[in-house]
Amino acid sequence: MHKRLESAVSQLLNDGHPSEDLATDRARVEKYIDAYEEGKLFFGRDTLASLDRQIDALRAAGAVGDYNGDGGVVTLKDIMTHMSTKYPEYLLEAETPLAIGYQHPVEPSGRPLCDLEAAFRAHQASWLASATCKSLTTTIAASVATLRAPINKIVCFGLGRLDEWKLTNTPEELAKSVERAAWQHAAALTMAETLTRAQGGGGDEVRCYTQDPVYADVEKQLLAALGFEILEDPKGFLAVDDRTLVFSVTPNVPVRQIVADMVWPAAMVWDVIDKDRDDEGEREWRTDMNEGLERRISPWFTDEGSIRITEMGQHYTFSPLPGDLHKNNFGSLGIYFRK
Ligand SMILES: C[S@@+](CC[C@H](N)C(=O)[O-])C[C@H]1O[C@@H](n2cnc3c(N)ncnc32)[C@H](O)[C@@H]1O
Repeated sequence: MHKRLESAVSQLLNDGHPSEDLATDRARVEKYIDAYEEGKLFFGRDTLASLDRQIDALRAAGAVGDYNGDGGVVTLKDIMTHMSTKYPEYLLEAETPLAIGYQHPVEPSGRPLCDLEAAFRAHQASWLASATCKSLTTTIAASVATLRAPINKIVCFGLGRLDEWKLTNTPEELAKSVERAAWQHAAALTMAETLTRAQGGGGDEVRCYTQDPVYADVEKQLLAALGFEILEDPKGFLAVDDRTLVFSVTPNVPVRQIVADMVWPAAMVWDVIDKDRDDEGEREWRTDMNEGLERRISPWFTDEGSIRITEMGQHYTFSPLPGDLHKNNFGSLGIYFRK
């Protein structure tokens, strides 16, 4: 990590950044790296509970609004996660691993709820008929026998929008826009049903909770009708305990790092955990050209890994979610159950 910081500083010096500012920023980042290496928690339960109280207080005071006085969304912002050397200037400017951010409320496209539900149901039917669904349910049903205690809830993070970003003309365009999110929400419902059934009669129904600051009101109505309970950010994190299955797919907030610091859940279905991090200091950005500009695209575009997550992963069984990661609507996901 220090090596990576070193090269970030050199790059910024070459770019003409003032050396005095860099020295202060560098000292702060070094402190974070050392704290992490000493085992200090970045995202402990107390920290998340405090952020939650601060956000609630902002809402209660009506302090959440833009210059037009419109209501906004207060949410957690990924500032400096363990490996957030995404952009050297970003890392060195960060004053804290996680901050409270403000974003404009998400506009519904204007599609009526019945259209959104029809699009969701069509995708749900394809999901239920898929080989990926069969494989996921088989793995989950087989893994239940090894659980220390039954799983009583699924908490989802960052599964995305069930509405279009912009109103389009055709049902096909709507269907395309919501496909990934629909498959992912449908998968959460399937996992809940599978767990409820596999954990045997008499037990409580496994419920689905979901957190994504991007849901507009009409999506919240759809989600409620589908059986989800929506949790405002960061209440989802506070709901996770050792009887939870956590489900997330490339969230724009470091879900795995936060969960790893808070509690080890009974199970996770989330982005595949690195087997080791031996080369993390040397990993380089893969770049892509987009509209004539070079963009950094991987690794660590979202939900960055960390040494702590890798260590946690060693205490779980692992089964990959099958399918072509570019076409399966989930990417590279792993199914993890506590050993
Ligand atoms: C890259 S998108 C992935 C969406 C979807 N899972 C997919 O695979 O297409 C990242 C998602 O993370 C969500 N997100 C950002 N901050 C979040 C937070 N604090 N809690 C939960 N989700 C968050 C975004 O709103 C967005 O839906």
